Amino acid sequence: MPISPQNPNAIKINLVTKENLASLDKTELFESLKFKGNYKQIVFLPESKQIFVGVSLDISNKVFDPFFKVDFFNLGAVIINSLAKTKITQIQLEYVDSATEFNSKNLQDLVLGMMQASWNFDTYLDTKKAKTKQLEISLNSSFDGLLDPNKITEIEIFNTNLNLVRTLVESIPEDVNPESMMKLIQENLGNKSNLKLELWDAQKLQENKLNSVMFVGRASRYQPTLVHATLTPKGEIKHKICLVGKGVTYDSGGLDIKTEGHMKTMKTDMAGSATMFGIIKTLAEIGLENTEIHWISAFAENMVAPNSYKADDVITSYSGQTIEILNTDAEGRLLLADCLSLATTFNPDYIIDAATLTGACVVALSERYTALMSNDKQFSDSLFSHFVAENENAAQVILPQDLKEEVAGTISDLINTSKVGRQAGHITAGLFLGHFVDQKLFRNPDIKLENPKEFSWVHLDIAGSAFNNKKNSIEHNGATGQSLRSIVSWVRGLDG
Ligand code: BES
Ligand code: ZN
Ligand code: ZN
Repeated sequence: MPISPQNPNAIKINLVTKENLASLDKTELFESLKFKGNYKQIVFLPESKQIFVGVSLDISNKVFDPFFKVDFFNLGAVIINSLAKTKITQIQLEYVDSATEFNSKNLQDLVLGMMQASWNFDTYLDTKKAKTKQLEISLNSSFDGLLDPNKITEIEIFNTNLNLVRTLVESIPEDVNPESMMKLIQENLGNKSNLKLELWDAQKLQENKLNSVMFVGRASRYQPTLVHATLTPKGEIKHKICLVGKGVTYDSGGLDIKTEGHMKTMKTDMAGSATMFGIIKTLAEIGLENTEIHWISAFAENMVAPNSYKADDVITSYSGQTIEILNTDAEGRLLLADCLSLATTFNPDYIIDAATLTGACVVALSERYTALMSNDKQFSDSLFSHFVAENENAAQVILPQDLKEEVAGTISDLINTSKVGRQAGHITAGLFLGHFVDQKLFRNPDIKLENPKEFSWVHLDIAGSAFNNKKNSIEHNGATGQSLRSIVSWVRGLDG
């Protein structure tokens, strides 16, 4: 149990605002240390075993940025990282200035941020060099009412599953590939009574005509695979959500091979599927009342071999729509196309996909932001509001209808790149995907459609946000687990 009652040996953490700094009777000391109570300012007083953390953020300037606010998750990480060079593992939240109106959600975020920052991806390190710290977090009794045992269990569930996502994203393709993913899913989800698993091998993919998946994965040592997990709620089913994640376990670019430097980090190209994996596991462990969740991901490795798929191929996707390949490095949208079409056959109320889809997204929004695109404003606004509440950076990006023409083919329905080249590459990729949540465009006679319709859908391009080269919200570089908390929060909001 990492969160315990008062611990006399622990380092005490005090969150203070500018306004009430004077009331702490340490004016001279704070002045000498230039500590003013500004947001994220930290002073550590080892002799008295105290840490003072500023939480005053000046928001008087005119800014249009919903993320410009105090983020307790990040603050928790900042505190832990300030102790990185020490051996300290026992810390206690001692005092929070009343001016912060600190609530239960803030406390959960703070504790989770601390836990996340204390965890490092150590799989391939000598245990002597491992950086993960076993934190012992305790709370002063004044916080007793803010965290009941259920909330503590929830924090632990989030922490474990964020670490699962981060581990999968950081692990090398020898360990995370289309074959091993099936085992990892079985191990992690196979024993849950509210979850049903369907695991497809390449033969099943072929029989069901998920041709786009098969084309992308065919040059690999590992045959493509697919997971369809279904989470059943405790009560009557009132909502149905389908989660889809890009599962390219390595993206060499294929025959349009990535040039120097761009291949590095492409082990992370399955982050969308890892995120959805973590989300359905979190939801299964917390439990839902009235919402059924489906998770679909196809796994494939985009490699180079004599049987690689190539520019000039025309693929008949699972939906029946044909796609001319112009670049084998635009493989993610092919996998997603088949998975999104398959998702529609379960008739969900909402579809969310997450994918490390385009370099253009990183260029447009930086590595910190997820691009949120949708065909449904209400859905988009509602999901976005949870990104804001969770302080997970995202930006709503429109899908302009007059760019739709740019993904249309000449000898096929669609092309897998865009006629405007690199311009707005994240948007043209989103427009491409939109064709696979609209059953009115389907023409695979095997898919029986009584009332073909267009589904409410959000596409999350996490090319930047899934893996950061610079320090992220937990002040580390590497896999982030970003979007998991926001999507879980949105689902739970819908569930009631
Ligand atoms: N996996 C990449 C996108 C990516 C780039 C993710 C950088 C994370 C960081 C994707 O498959 C890709 O290569 N996309 C191409 C598409 C282009 C060929 C139309 C891109 O963005 O350059
Ligand atoms: Zn690619
Ligand atoms: Zn890719």
